[in-house]
Amino acid sequence: MAIIYDTYPQEDKLVMSTKDTTNAGVRKIKPIWKKVFVLLTCMSFYFAYYNSFFSKNGMVSFCSMPSTTASSNCPMIKPLSPTFENSSVERILRDPEFKKEAIEKFSGAIKIDTEVQDVNPSPKKDRQYWSQFTKFQDYLKETFPLTFAHLELDIVNEFGMVLTWEGSNSDLKPMMLTAHQDVVPVNPSTVDQWTFPPYSGAYDKETDTVWGRGSFDCKNLLIGELQAVETLLQDGFKPTRTVLVIFGFDEESSGPHGAATLSKFLLEKYGSDGLYSIVDEGFGVVKVSEDIYMATPITGEKGHLNSLFEIKGHGGHSSSPPMSGHTNIGVAAKLISLLEDTPFEAAYTPENPVWNLLTCLSEHSTKFDSKTKDIIKKSATSPKYQKILLEFLLESQPFKELVRTSQAVDIIKGGVKSNALPEDVSFVVNHRIEVGSSVQETINHDLDAAQSIAEIYSYGLKYKDEFLIPETENGYIVYDYTSDLEPAPVSPHNNNAWEVFTQSIQETFENGVFANSDNDISFYVTESLATFNTDTKFYWDLTRNIYRFQAVVLPEDALKSFHSVNEHIAVKDHLSTIAFVYNYILNVNEYETSD
Ligand SMILES: *[C@@H]1O[C@H](CO)[C@@H](O)[C@H](O)[C@H]1NC(C)=O
Ligand SMILES: [Zn+2]
Repeated sequence: MAIIYDTYPQEDKLVMSTKDTTNAGVRKIKPIWKKVFVLLTCMSFYFAYYNSFFSKNGMVSFCSMPSTTASSNCPMIKPLSPTFENSSVERILRDPEFKKEAIEKFSGAIKIDTEVQDVNPSPKKDRQYWSQFTKFQDYLKETFPLTFAHLELDIVNEFGMVLTWEGSNSDLKPMMLTAHQDVVPVNPSTVDQWTFPPYSGAYDKETDTVWGRGSFDCKNLLIGELQAVETLLQDGFKPTRTVLVIFGFDEESSGPHGAATLSKFLLEKYGSDGLYSIVDEGFGVVKVSEDIYMATPITGEKGHLNSLFEIKGHGGHSSSPPMSGHTNIGVAAKLISLLEDTPFEAAYTPENPVWNLLTCLSEHSTKFDSKTKDIIKKSATSPKYQKILLEFLLESQPFKELVRTSQAVDIIKGGVKSNALPEDVSFVVNHRIEVGSSVQETINHDLDAAQSIAEIYSYGLKYKDEFLIPETENGYIVYDYTSDLEPAPVSPHNNNAWEVFTQSIQETFENGVFANSDNDISFYVTESLATFNTDTKFYWDLTRNIYRFQAVVLPEDALKSFHSVNEHIAVKDHLSTIAFVYNYILNVNEYETSD
């Protein structure tokens, strides 16, 4: 336990105990580099605004051409073209008949409302609650007849789906494609704000888009995977490597019934590290400038922790507040202030995917000024520039939480009556843990803050049923946590699986989607980091090669409708999703490897 206290800077406590309140204990992030870098505007999803993010107010960067120097740290990769001679990729991307059918199948899947709530009953105990999923699966069977005829279907925990397309060589580790059947609920009070009703699955001819809850998250990918398999079967393809298509059913409520049980099934069957790769939902392709596009598959996920604080003090009549001048609500406020004024420190963790993302953006985006480019480039090898880069990123809304553990006070409870002093006050802080940090470090940070406040305001401190500081006459502070999840292991890049994956993306866009385009489009593949979690958090033991990606070009407004009103997706993006999965299955099968 002792180590816990060592990380909190001693001077904070000194400042706090001598100067007491107002601004005490504050380790401020120094507002440097503001003169060098333009302070960038805030938006809520970082991947929707690479474009606007690095643009200098009204200034056109002189480095506006994509870098062609030999020293590129983000070179264009070679597409890997499948040799399968009956390939349907052209048909998938450009045949009006294929498109019409694909829209119908996709739209039908959106029409079946598969909402899940935050907490859902076990499907074994309450099948009725999940009856929409029976309907949904019947629809899938009807819509993809070849797939369900040729692949073996295992049902795990009532609604988890495991489709196995047996390969001819059982020595090869299976590849896994996954997605989730469930969608987030539509807030009833927002239904009239939808341009098309949320479960209409409406196709809007004018904009060539399909509308509805789940169109983006995650039925595009789910239907895309099934359609790719269905088309490969039509085309007479037979895999050498087993293809698994796995669908969870409660990803939006953290997957306790779906992915959690699916992972056990898969581990039992294939063993630890028994799969070749996993492709799940994630980011897509970003339009960096008019003729430059970049795929940003997610190769890492931040960890997670909910810290629970409780001030367990004494009550009394409000006409006689405590000597300290602080009620238990006030003490809770002090603790919240201390936490917020002492954000987690940013770290340059080498395996953080954000460095490759920044390298690629800075080399190929026209929106970076030369100074920023220079700093990003030098940061690859120089600790001094790493520090400068971190300070810069901390000033930017979309990037600041990619390099440190975030914290957000999200729930607070306390007090019942205006003339009664509050006895118990509790609050919850939600954390997303930095790639190089850990659940334990996050706990330590929060426990240290609680300890500081306990010492200054004379409270005890309790953690895991143990008093770290004995209860005082004021009472004590309790620290506890839930929902702890370590940061995901970052997917490796130095192996064949990564090459095949990224080259399949390159193939799908360079030789597919953009092949007949009017302008000369440059396409790159980089990587990115998620600040949220997907079903893959249950699959870490199955393979290190986990890629979170759907082959869609993210429109600038797409993320506004993500989990909100007017979720929709362009049909061309649904088609490229199918095309990528199609190419990827072929390439994984054709690529000679003993894995
Ligand atoms: C090639 O694909 C078409 C459908 O796209 C199919 O009808 C045909 O049988 C396939 N050819 C072979 C040799 O499997
Ligand atoms: Zn999702």
